[in-house]
Amino acid sequence: MTPRCSSRFYLYGVSAIAAIAGLLFGFDTGIISGALLFIQQDFPLSTLMQEMIVGSVLIGAMAGSLASGHLTDRFGRRKLLLIVSGLFVVGTLTAALATHVSLILIGRFIIGIAIGMGSYAAPLYIAELSPHNLRGALVSLNQLAITIGILCSYIINYVFTSTHNTWRIMFAIGLIPALLLSIGMLFLPESPRWLIKQNLTDKAMTILRRLRDTEQVKAEVTDIQNSIQIRQAKFSEIFSPWILPVLGLGAMLGFIQQATGINTIIYYAPTIFQLAGFENASSSILATIGIGVVNVLATVFAILYLDKLGRRPLLLTGLTGMCLSLLGLSLTFHLGADGNDLRWLAVACAFTYIICFAFSLGAILWLLVSEIFPLEVRATAMGVAVFNCWLWNFAVSASFLTLLNAMGPSQTFFFYSMMCVFGLVFCYYKVPETNGVTLEEIEINIRNRVALRHIGQTSEDPACPKQYSPLT
Ligand code: BGC
Repeated sequence: MTPRCSSRFYLYGVSAIAAIAGLLFGFDTGIISGALLFIQQDFPLSTLMQEMIVGSVLIGAMAGSLASGHLTDRFGRRKLLLIVSGLFVVGTLTAALATHVSLILIGRFIIGIAIGMGSYAAPLYIAELSPHNLRGALVSLNQLAITIGILCSYIINYVFTSTHNTWRIMFAIGLIPALLLSIGMLFLPESPRWLIKQNLTDKAMTILRRLRDTEQVKAEVTDIQNSIQIRQAKFSEIFSPWILPVLGLGAMLGFIQQATGINTIIYYAPTIFQLAGFENASSSILATIGIGVVNVLATVFAILYLDKLGRRPLLLTGLTGMCLSLLGLSLTFHLGADGNDLRWLAVACAFTYIICFAFSLGAILWLLVSEIFPLEVRATAMGVAVFNCWLWNFAVSASFLTLLNAMGPSQTFFFYSMMCVFGLVFCYYKVPETNGVTLEEIEINIRNRVALRHIGQTSEDPACPKQYSPLT
């Protein structure tokens, strides 16, 4: 059911407000590399302490994503996002006003919890509000917001690097989106799917009518009711045989998104550009801003085309491009990019890599993990998948510099390109096309144990089962 104009406007507005959580995700993960330089002027930091300040956000995010499954089922998607915005405010204030380095650690950890919860609750909330034909674009607004947040942090890092000792202001700028999220969430509706699960069907119908701009929401409500009519799943059920394959798919996608090396470039781009021979720090930071810009633009492309071209073609093309770009990067370092013209090739490869990531794994991971899990275990299972993504984010970003020292840049990027080959083969055989199919149809297929690759087939497809089979 495609919403008409005014409801479409409302739907985009609601999704955009929820996606501010993504903006904070991008901003707070990106700002630390610049802020760290100045924190050291106020508090002398050992290398371990620097790593702890950087890692505290990622560890907080792991904790947040694990906890959010339970919390979002209990309190609802909307309330959880309100809690997230509150945590962003508290964490940012603690870090920005810190009088001791331990308070920076605590503040960044709280921000991490908010990022972990938000990275999970925002796409889930948006997916549950969206009609199936706009779901790809709307959920990907969250990824767009992440990339805008990263770009803002790069720009702020650049602006402040050339001025004064202002790490507190750099952190505090994050308060603006955090407060916007808090205020915005007060006015947003709860997810109709969560309301129906709580037997608040009338309320859900009112919200759906507003979102779809039509009185004809009965069929959608019946679909949702059907998908939750069967007994409620317990936590342990996410490991039962009918869910396990799809849980494995979600966890594997999180692994692939991170193990193919995205954050080696997002977090360490200036270092890589310096290695390639851009000795002047400001030219490598400027090139990094370029990375931030193409990341945003390619995500806009994903938003425009995900619901037209489908998830799989973008995913497979993107992974191929990422692999080739990393091979190119590896080759330029192998041939000795060091201040000569090859450094431009290194920059070009980093740019094509980011573009290919942004229109594929960047947007599609968050979309697929919000789509593939059956409603009654969606929150918990999605929490596990998102946790895995943060776990590997931490592992890859914490090990990158060590790998670089041990193997050199050429072999390090070759290693990540091989992870892309693995990702490509896995996605080719396992990732379903979920374009144009409702979340309930996906669920029917999972319950009927349709092979993973085909859980996105629609009910119009004669091969697709129409009934829920009882759980075993
Ligand atoms: C990833 C982040 C990454 C960002 C880059 C997100 O989808 O989860 O780890 O930094 O994309 O745009």
